[in-house]
Amino acid sequence: MIGRSLLELATHDVVRRAVTSAPISRNVARRFVAGETTAEAVAAVAEIAGSGRLVTVDHLGEDTLDLRSATAATDAYLRLLDALSGAGLIAVAEVSVKLTAVGLALPNGVDIALSNSQRIVKKAAELGTTVTIDMEDHTKTSATLEIVSALRKTRPDVGVAVQAYLRRTEADLVNLCVPGSRIRLCKGAYRETVDVAFVDRGEISAAYSRCLHILMSGPAYPMVATHDPQLIELTSSLAVRHLREPGSFEYQLLNGVRPDEQLRLAATGGRVRVYLPYGQEWYGYMMRRMAEKPANLALFIRAMTSRR
Ligand code: FDA
Repeated sequence: MIGRSLLELATHDVVRRAVTSAPISRNVARRFVAGETTAEAVAAVAEIAGSGRLVTVDHLGEDTLDLRSATAATDAYLRLLDALSGAGLIAVAEVSVKLTAVGLALPNGVDIALSNSQRIVKKAAELGTTVTIDMEDHTKTSATLEIVSALRKTRPDVGVAVQAYLRRTEADLVNLCVPGSRIRLCKGAYRETVDVAFVDRGEISAAYSRCLHILMSGPAYPMVATHDPQLIELTSSLAVRHLREPGSFEYQLLNGVRPDEQLRLAATGGRVRVYLPYGQEWYGYMMRRMAEKPANLALFIRAMTSRR
């Protein structure tokens, strides 16, 4: 309930301006976000990699509304990839891309987002790493899958996120589950309605569990993106049941969320990848993290009202 109202509130300009102009907001955001610059992102990757975890870096920015911003976001990814390579971190880091950040919401958006994401995928491949395409609200799902399919014609290792809360996802998985296909399974972070999505927490977890069974028993490469203790436990037991080697799937968690669990999973030999966002557009991302966990909101309000 709090989560849904917060997501609604977050879209108001007045709220956005008040929050982003308060210096303290940046400090709270730092729990989840690496910083605003490429150099800060690279430094954070090095730190995470030092503890045996892999990283997927997201340059924050979504719903780009003009061509120039879409090109700028694409160029930011190219600079990031070069910087990761220059720092010797390309073997431990890939990038995550939101297609609206590279133009999907513009007129003729499919062509623009495809062409921009192709540039990022090409650069990543040249440097020796991969790209995963994030999934956004349900109005973008079909276009996102269409673009991923086009990208995979030249680079079959392009990953894609799917959202367990969408009613269509189990059917989508049947088509996506081909050998080697990198598929990130998450619950879903957008405000969706009951006609397209499960909205009850129990129903979402049950849908996640069904999708996880499909993924872990199939030929794809599952990227299990959740902090939910029961679903993490289910993943471990399905890996044993289906005789999966530790390197044949990975756990993915958000930077700053359950860090002890991230380290525990890595220490037990699991492949763990941290989703690490950076960039100036941290507001929408931070508000979604608040909506997921009221305790984060309490942290934020305390920081906003504290004098120290
Ligand atoms: P749930 O929200 O039920 O949380 C389970 C437990 O985890 C909580 O009880 C709490 O202990 C902990 N927890 C969860 N969120 C927390 C937070 N913000 N702060 C502190 N503790 C928290 N979504 C999407 O729509 N498209 C995408 O492409 C992606 N990509 C993605 C990548 C990765 C690596 C992750 C981990 C997540 C995403 N998501 C996403 C977000 C995802 O859809 C979902 O909103 C969040 O992961 C929260 O759902 P959980 O599965 O963690 O369960």
